[in-house]
Amino acid sequence: MNTPLIVGNWKMNTSLEEATTLAASIAQTVNNAGASVVVGICPPYPWIVPVGDIVRGSSLRMGAQDCASTESGAHTGDVSAAMLASCCSFTLIGHSERRSNHQETDDIVRQKLNRALDAGLDVILCVGESSAQRGAGEASNVVQHQLGAALEGFESSRLTSLTIAYEPVWAIGTGVAATEDDAAQMSTVIRHNLSERFESTSDSVRILYGGSANDRNAPAFLAANNVDGLLVGGASLSSDTFGSMIRCAANGA
Ligand code: PGA
Repeated sequence: MNTPLIVGNWKMNTSLEEATTLAASIAQTVNNAGASVVVGICPPYPWIVPVGDIVRGSSLRMGAQDCASTESGAHTGDVSAAMLASCCSFTLIGHSERRSNHQETDDIVRQKLNRALDAGLDVILCVGESSAQRGAGEASNVVQHQLGAALEGFESSRLTSLTIAYEPVWAIGTGVAATEDDAAQMSTVIRHNLSERFESTSDSVRILYGGSANDRNAPAFLAANNVDGLLVGGASLSSDTFGSMIRCAANGA
């Protein structure tokens, strides 16, 4: 049984003042919750350092929403994994909004994953099918293909740095979450896929659910088979809602 992980993905939201206020409140909740839950937040890039300063001394983990696929150089607008490693402990990779809005292919996702790990960051690799793919009965094939492409050549010694987030595209930001059965089924598919690849060394890899997760559906998702936590978008922007999700994970552990 892995300690549950709750991660807030703030996306392109918050002013600096909102970000620091929200982070301070979350850090307080995390300190009160103790060691039975691990919590991370992914603020927009420019807020990572000031928010990190505010939460220093708490066990709240700082993360990024993405990193560059290249190491350094003439890449205007990109932020390298090494730069992020100086102010974060983890990054999301392969979020569906990156895949669709920025045409990130499986190859780019794999390059980013390896850059992040090389720089010493932990990675939350996001996978998930579209509604058309689910409708065509292709959901688990799509997810397994994304996993296989991203993890090609992956060494099992790096598994301690890896988390997988199952985020069905049709559930992200729509208010229509998957059912806990959908989440359990796909997490079990992911778990089997990892154990075929890496045997029992992969048991410690957390599998998160993401997509319209909130304080009302969190208890069911957190109780679902093979779901080790949540990747939360919209609901992570409210300290009350995100705070209840953290407490829920801490109490159920
Ligand atoms: P949502 O986003 O919770 O707003 O659906 C989840 C995500 O994109 O990580």
